[in-house]
Amino acid sequence: MKAIDIRNKYLKFFESKGHKIIPSSPLIPENDPSVLFTTAGMQPLVPYLLGEKHPEGTRLTDYQKCVRTVDIEDVGDNRHLTYFEMLGNWSLGDYFKKEAIEWSFEFLTKHLNIPVDKLSVTCFAGDEDAPKDEEAIEAWKKAGIPEERIYLFGKNDNWWIAGDEGPCGPDTEMFYDTGKPKCSENCNPSCDCGKYVEIWNDVFMEYYRHADGKYTKLSKQNVDTGMGLERMAMLLQGKETPYETELFSATMEKLKELAKNDDIHSRRIISDHLRSSMMIIADGGTPSNTDRGYILRRLIRRMIRHLNKLEIEQSKLSELIDITIDSLKHMYEELDLNRDRIKNIIIEEQQKFSKTLEHGEKEFEKALNKAKSEGKDTIDSSSAFRLYETYGFPIEMTIELAKENGMNVDVKEFDKLFKEHQEKSKIGSEHKFKGGLAEQNEITIAYHTATHLLHKALQIVLGEHATQKGSNITTERLRFDFAHPKKVTKEELEKVEEIVNEQIKKDLPVTCEEMTLEEAKKAGATGLFENKYGDKVKVYSIGDFSKEICGGPHVEHTGVLGKFVIKKEESSSSGIRRIKAVLIKE
Ligand code: ALA
Repeated sequence: MKAIDIRNKYLKFFESKGHKIIPSSPLIPENDPSVLFTTAGMQPLVPYLLGEKHPEGTRLTDYQKCVRTVDIEDVGDNRHLTYFEMLGNWSLGDYFKKEAIEWSFEFLTKHLNIPVDKLSVTCFAGDEDAPKDEEAIEAWKKAGIPEERIYLFGKNDNWWIAGDEGPCGPDTEMFYDTGKPKCSENCNPSCDCGKYVEIWNDVFMEYYRHADGKYTKLSKQNVDTGMGLERMAMLLQGKETPYETELFSATMEKLKELAKNDDIHSRRIISDHLRSSMMIIADGGTPSNTDRGYILRRLIRRMIRHLNKLEIEQSKLSELIDITIDSLKHMYEELDLNRDRIKNIIIEEQQKFSKTLEHGEKEFEKALNKAKSEGKDTIDSSSAFRLYETYGFPIEMTIELAKENGMNVDVKEFDKLFKEHQEKSKIGSEHKFKGGLAEQNEITIAYHTATHLLHKALQIVLGEHATQKGSNITTERLRFDFAHPKKVTKEELEKVEEIVNEQIKKDLPVTCEEMTLEEAKKAGATGLFENKYGDKVKVYSIGDFSKEICGGPHVEHTGVLGKFVIKKEESSSSGIRRIKAVLIKE
């Protein structure tokens, strides 16, 4: 069965059980600077799991685009992926364990036609925080799983929470038996040997874990489930790895054809990282040296290094992107819609990085030989730092290169050098900023202030979720990207325009204060909160109307802006809208 058919069957099945199908949220979480990417289907639903009413009701189902980078180093083996799709169904204080388990069983055995004897399950064994999950055990027995294939484990295996704090609870996990021999007498589903593959997780969320480690009961009993699509496709197609399914095969085959020095490990890394990078870019991501942008940069640069290892010509990357988009666009139309943007960003990054890659590799060789000749097993921090600063090698890449040569890197010292460098470049950028003022002109400064007014007005009219996702200013216009799931109506746009023009008429003063990031957050300032190393940030206030973290510069009074007119509203990428607007002198 193809992945798209599994997805469609899943959504239809839960629709037939009274669930509303909701769209996938973007990979870049809206309004949540604390999380880099969406990592599970429940993440965008946290407010509803905590009790807020969902507009679509109490039974929901979706497919959610997810990126998890904790296992990034393991990609290249036969199972780890950085991007994956999670199918999920939720009960928000509606049905609970009995129905969730009954339906999981029904879907697996009747709709995906998995034989019952291929299935094993695990349930929570109980501890001081929550009792043994008798209800789940009973439901599995009733469904038809024999007792000897119902395993009980503690919190390590059968308790689910995203991070350290939040809604959580005992879970029951479903495993597919590949038929491989047991690795030992004690081989069971919690074992890593590959005999059992986890296919689905039903979480019974009725607790909240507080930062201090204490648990309290939630106001409602919820169900949160997650099924990994790539894995399910792999099993149903009788493949050994997800890379052999139609989700990757076109890219994998093309790489094989292009490689002069083939290596399956490198081909998997390229296929995985290319798909993840494309999905992140389609949802508004761009490479940079901080946070999300840094992860994207790492993915792209690692991919480029492995393309180089396979001796694939640089000019082939564009074709490879096309082939990958063509093989995935039936599942993600945003890839097709953002084809040019994806290509431009990845190829620009390739051009930047490949200039220094070769020299960097030579530099690495030197550091390696030096360490070896001194009888050391560690690459020194100053070499690692030079590779980062001069050659654009993410530290993780140097670590990977070192590992390939049986060496370590002095990461602790590297971190110290890195922090010192951050401080210096902060001071540097402040100087640059002063110098840069000369390049700013009256018009772009006015557009900058207008952008702040627009941002706030959008949040007033559309809701707080409408946060900034991008901004670009020329002397002709401003362009502003923000999170919003649907087209902004004409009435809403008129209201936004009206609010901005009201603030201009009021001739509000624009003031700037310096404070720590923490203070800025406390003061209710909006901003991208990207600068996690810097201690002080600038916060610009426009009267009492808006407060944003921003480098400036801005006009002194809004009265000078003239008339604000929205020229265009359109989609930028999935879940992100774009407005172009101008200021007209009156
Ligand atoms: N939230 C659960 C998981 O990610 C379903 O496994």
